[in-house]
Amino acid sequence: MGQGPVLGIEATAHTASVGIVQPAEGGGVEILTNVFASYSPTEGGIHPREAANHHAESLPRLIREALAEAGVAPGDLEAVAFSQGPGLGPCRRTGASAARALALTIGRPLVGVNHCVAHLEVGRAVLGCQDPVLLYASGGNTQVIAYAAGRYRVFGETLDIGIGNMLDKLGREMGLPFPAGPTLERMALSGERFLPLPYSVKGMDVAYSGILTAALNLHSKGEPMDDLAMSVQETAFAMLVEVTERAMAHVGRDEVLLGGGVAANSRLREMATIMADERGARCFAPPPQLCVDNGAMIAVLGEMMLEVGATTPIEESGVMQRFRTDEVEVTWR
Ligand code: ATP
Ligand code: FE2
Repeated sequence: MGQGPVLGIEATAHTASVGIVQPAEGGGVEILTNVFASYSPTEGGIHPREAANHHAESLPRLIREALAEAGVAPGDLEAVAFSQGPGLGPCRRTGASAARALALTIGRPLVGVNHCVAHLEVGRAVLGCQDPVLLYASGGNTQVIAYAAGRYRVFGETLDIGIGNMLDKLGREMGLPFPAGPTLERMALSGERFLPLPYSVKGMDVAYSGILTAALNLHSKGEPMDDLAMSVQETAFAMLVEVTERAMAHVGRDEVLLGGGVAANSRLREMATIMADERGARCFAPPPQLCVDNGAMIAVLGEMMLEVGATTPIEESGVMQRFRTDEVEVTWR
């Protein structure tokens, strides 16, 4: 078992994506393809049903595209993995339906994977780090994690909103398109004056709503958007890097691995690398396309789970189990 390619479907939020991976000779995985279609609301936040409609329209095309690009015939797939949760209900169900339809058509097993754990495992599989402290920074999640005794244990996390949601909410008020993270990153490059913002670290945890409120305030007072973007990034990322460093010292690990959409940010990657260098440790960050929501990360975790026989019966494929990162029983490590 587990020698052929695995196709992964991601559709739990704004992004529909299909990836195909296969076990590489000598260990690890090879990513054959990773194709995307993103839903962007015309105004306001994500409308779950509209996003689900977008995914339902996109997925058949993305699956065909991925198979063609990878040069894989549907019948050659070993399994179909899909992001089972957490995520927006209508989106999640759309992804699961597409996965079920494909798995039934080709008569191969389904593997339902946890979205958060997929964000972490893709880096380990592709970059070959051993036992890192993990910094998972995305839209809804901001967690510092380490593996111990069959679980990904959360050492610290946001006490209010995820760092990506904070960036997106700020961007929305500034009139930037969704998601705002990449645009703020570009604007921050031109920021010149640092505007002090609430730096909120409590033990191993962080909080972001104070930064958001203060930044919105400065925006309404007419402070330049580039300065604001730079100041928000510097403050929010410094908080994250501080708790990550503390976790590394606490659990005695000399590797840090980044994951999640915000980990696509070059400045965060740079700050984490400087921190790691200063303590004689190493920082690993997957290519940006593997940080944001993507089908390849789902296929990677699906492949690992398939290896240990952790497939999902069709009748359980609608159930959303193991919601939080630390509720997932890690049977493949
Ligand atoms: P979660 O994993 O918590 O469910 P998600 O699934 O909504 O999050 P991801 O694709 O993992 O989505 O992360 C999306 C977030 O990443 C958005 O908030 C977006 O603004 C942010 N993001 C993407 N690229 C960048 C970047 N270059 N700089 C900063 N933030 C970024
Ligand atoms: Fe995500």
